[in-house]
Amino acid sequence: MTELISIKDSSKYVGEEVRMHVWLTDKRSSGKIIFLQLRDGTAFFQGVVRKENVSEEVFAAAKSLYQEASFYITGTVHEDTRSHFGYEIQISDLEVVTNNEGYPVTNKEHGVDFLLDHRHLWLRSRRPFAIMQIRNTLFKATVDFFEKEGFIKFDAPFFVHSAPEGTTELFHTEYFDHDAYLSQSGQLYGEVGAEAFGKIFTFGPTFRAEESKTRRHLTEFWMMEPEMAWMHQDESLDIQERLLAYITGQVLEKNLYELKLLGRDPEKLRPTAEGNFTRLSYDDAVKMLQDAGRDFKWGDDFGAPDEAFISEQFDRPFFIVNYPTAIKPFYMKKNPENPKEYLCADVLAPEGYGEIMGGSERESDYETLKSQIEEAGLNLDDYEWYLDLRKFGSVPHSGFGMGFERVIAWICNLDHVREAIPFPRTINRLRP
Ligand code: 4AD
Ligand code: MG
Repeated sequence: MTELISIKDSSKYVGEEVRMHVWLTDKRSSGKIIFLQLRDGTAFFQGVVRKENVSEEVFAAAKSLYQEASFYITGTVHEDTRSHFGYEIQISDLEVVTNNEGYPVTNKEHGVDFLLDHRHLWLRSRRPFAIMQIRNTLFKATVDFFEKEGFIKFDAPFFVHSAPEGTTELFHTEYFDHDAYLSQSGQLYGEVGAEAFGKIFTFGPTFRAEESKTRRHLTEFWMMEPEMAWMHQDESLDIQERLLAYITGQVLEKNLYELKLLGRDPEKLRPTAEGNFTRLSYDDAVKMLQDAGRDFKWGDDFGAPDEAFISEQFDRPFFIVNYPTAIKPFYMKKNPENPKEYLCADVLAPEGYGEIMGGSERESDYETLKSQIEEAGLNLDDYEWYLDLRKFGSVPHSGFGMGFERVIAWICNLDHVREAIPFPRTINRLRP
């Protein structure tokens, strides 16, 4: 029996006869030869049908294939140095499974709204293919990294009754005869996990009723949130740096083909894989903006254009540490040396991408945290269980959150985070 292989494994079968199951992405013919552009979910490559090598029926069948026809092929793998992929197949037999006319996502240019309306089909194209493969590498690399570092995966609920990140962007829902919200962050539950297991990370969808139409905001996005007991902020920054260096290194190791499909220069990612991220204070970042003649007041939060400006100055991610307390959430620990600021940090990606992660040391003192909850105007009853963590066995602890689509958008050099997730959810998009 001829072996059934995937396109990705072609290099191991040069000169051999193999079978494959494939879909057609494009077709070109010139008389006695038909060039079929094929995909199978692992890669894209070319199949060549020559009239002299196949039966008349097979040649006719190949000639009548429409885009996205599905079929089995038998043939011999050859090197093809002119293509992205490096190999092609000379087809000797072909067996059609489905062949219908009218596939809407053609190889012509389409507008982004059209493509998003056809996301269920668009995902088959080269660009989304490359992005989703890289997403998969980043997911696995993240999980592997935390396992190596002694963390366990800990799952936070999605239906919640309280707000870690402020109440303005909560999705409200009815929960039988109560009010509930969709989780905007798993952090408070992650802190529970840290006191039970030492070092944990959550990784799952989070929800924010973002009414803004920016290139960095989704209403449903994936966040990875580690939480570490017995850990101060500096050590947390070390972990953040190692994490980004490791996962970027994994993309460079596994996804050069996909980066090429995206036209993304891998050299731009190499500095990140080396680590050594700058730790810039909030005050220094403000000074950078002011020195450049930008209109920015100490105490304000950075807007997207401010972050983009600062992040253009770096060749790898960097930290901005110790923001003023007024612009960050209630659970952070104040800097004992300067109570106007928190012991916190955002990570900004280079090339203008801006914030991809944010975190802090957490306030671990019961009374201080209680008054910070009250000052934030939140209802103490909702945080009773959270305050229990400060009553029993409270320890210094830190954590952070990585916005998964933001990381993917930067690694893949995307214009908008909506391309970083299979089915983006934004203010005006709920389907497909
Ligand atoms: O900065 P944020 O709001 O921080 C938290 O939620 C903390 N509880 C994290 C923690 O310390 N455990 O969100 C974390 C990250 C941001 O840095 C950003 O990358 C991403 O989540 N993010 C979004 N990504 C896409 N769309 C949105 N609407 C996002 N909002 C935040
Ligand atoms: Mg943030």
